[in-house]
Amino acid sequence: MIGNRNIEIAPSILSADFSCLGEQIKAVERGGAGVLHVDVMDGHFVPNITVGLPVVKSLSGFTKLPIDAHLMITEPGRYATQFVKEGAQMVSVHVEADPHLHRTLMSIKDAGAQAGVVLNPSTPLGAVEEALHFADYVLVMSVNPGFGGQKFIPQSLDKVKRLRQLIDERQLNVRIEIDGGVDRKNIESVVAAGAEIIVAGSAIFGTPDAEAAVKELRNATVQWV
Ligand code: DX5
Ligand code: ZN
Repeated sequence: MIGNRNIEIAPSILSADFSCLGEQIKAVERGGAGVLHVDVMDGHFVPNITVGLPVVKSLSGFTKLPIDAHLMITEPGRYATQFVKEGAQMVSVHVEADPHLHRTLMSIKDAGAQAGVVLNPSTPLGAVEEALHFADYVLVMSVNPGFGGQKFIPQSLDKVKRLRQLIDERQLNVRIEIDGGVDRKNIESVVAAGAEIIVAGSAIFGTPDAEAAVKELRNATVQWV
């Protein structure tokens, strides 16, 4: 797919050095990041525990970037609007964790944020087909959620392409986000497949210069901007 699209790099703070998180965020701002991706994990839906509401609250008062809260938690409907209240401008919930997606997505929108729905690598696109009409974005996981630094699952590209086609056919205003294992080598292929919000954790914070890493990822996508 070619044309004018709003490609944004979304650094995931999961791989950041939390002892100097503020400096790391300033670096990705200087690099031209479009969104700050915050991974919320509860140790139940995924086998890892990270950060939650208080961290989103302090970051929203600190950064000018919109905060994208990726909820990897059970019963996300119980907490989604609390993340909006603490300053997240985008909140996404996993389809595998929520039997009441319509209600949760609408509650996020009513609270004033963009609502996203997330698919694990083995979850078929059909699981979100109906929810497309109520979502602002779909997040395609290109690794199994839980940890940074995993290898990109190559079949995710075809999934993004098919999702792009579905969205375009229905003329919906739904953006595609991709998360997991994206780096300088494969970013062009994920953008070519149709993704617009590109999450990268270790490819940015795993390098000595996070600012330069964001710039490099952005430069690799200029032909689509
Ligand atoms: C994984 C998280 C990702 C993670 C990506 O469960 O959702 O956001 O931080 O990290 P990388 O880019 O290193 O795969
Ligand atoms: Zn994530």
